[in-house]
Amino acid sequence: MNRLSMVIALFASSAVLAQTTDELEKRERCAVRVSIALTGKAPTPDMLSSVDPQSRADTLIDTTDFIERYARFINTQFNRAPGASAEEDAPYYLAWEVLQKRKPWKELFIGAYRVEKNAADTVVVVPDPEGLGYFSSRAWLKRYAGNEPNGVLLSAAYRIFNNTIGLKLVPSTNAPDADITAAGRSAVGCRGCHYDGMFALDLAASVLPKRIDGTGGAITFEPPTSAPVTMMGGHTVGSMRELVTTLVESESFRFRTCRLAFNFLFGRNENRCEAPAFDRCMKEFRSEQTLQAAVASIVKDPAFCQ
Ligand code: HEC
Repeated sequence: MNRLSMVIALFASSAVLAQTTDELEKRERCAVRVSIALTGKAPTPDMLSSVDPQSRADTLIDTTDFIERYARFINTQFNRAPGASAEEDAPYYLAWEVLQKRKPWKELFIGAYRVEKNAADTVVVVPDPEGLGYFSSRAWLKRYAGNEPNGVLLSAAYRIFNNTIGLKLVPSTNAPDADITAAGRSAVGCRGCHYDGMFALDLAASVLPKRIDGTGGAITFEPPTSAPVTMMGGHTVGSMRELVTTLVESESFRFRTCRLAFNFLFGRNENRCEAPAFDRCMKEFRSEQTLQAAVASIVKDPAFCQ
């Protein structure tokens, strides 16, 4: 070998070396990213040396670490503040159940379950043919019973829209002398949210149970008596079950689910470059129905480790 070709050979092999070091570092970064995003923990040595760390997403999604983190995340997103008691955080308990059993995610909202306290004072998820996800949990209903003078569950109606499809309304600051009864809420300035529009709160609340104030702050509920209402762009709903079912069968529900998944993984909404990953999430979630499928589709997207 003459001198020149030796230099060239040396140069070439160091280039190869540099390339593989680059590649290794990239894989390691990817492993850290995937592991932290899903479980909150550093990757295992085995995963760190994986040729394709993104392919480990499915395994990580089945860990207790992921389930616990996602159930907690959902509970913070679905409530304005932590519950005063464990039972009030019904979404957390039911999310655990739905994730652990890999049930369709919509079961969190319409599944045949009830969340309650057992004799040992522990919060448990109980099968209940009449159940409507965590919405049928007593503590949840009480938490969002509100204080409308005639017991109309406006607060619960809003929570249902918010949790399922991500509706965000900022109630107008009530003028101190505003008429807050049904008549008052149909006035200009109120009816836009309360009686008109796709998600009119009073219409939705009319098919929910009614709050009855007992003595000493005791709250009970009675079944709704209202006739079915037509809302949400032409859907007729006659009960809480029909209301929630219509919502979780909508494209808005899938959008909300993928958006929450993005927020869990990135701590922010999806950005424009991530549109293909978002679309894939919608597609996977539509066909597979599980939250796991939605999250995995984002983590396995080429963009996730770039
Ligand atoms: C921008 C939409 C919007 C407008 C406009 C609006 N509201 Fe509301 N209202 C809401 C939402 C959202 C809630 C549920 C808030 C919650 O408890 O989370 C609500 C709840 C209520 C409640 C029940 C509170 C409770 O604790 O149960 C009353 C009463 C009410 N609104 C009266 C009015 C009146 C009167 C007006 C007009 C002056 C009005 N609202 C205008 C969105 C609106």
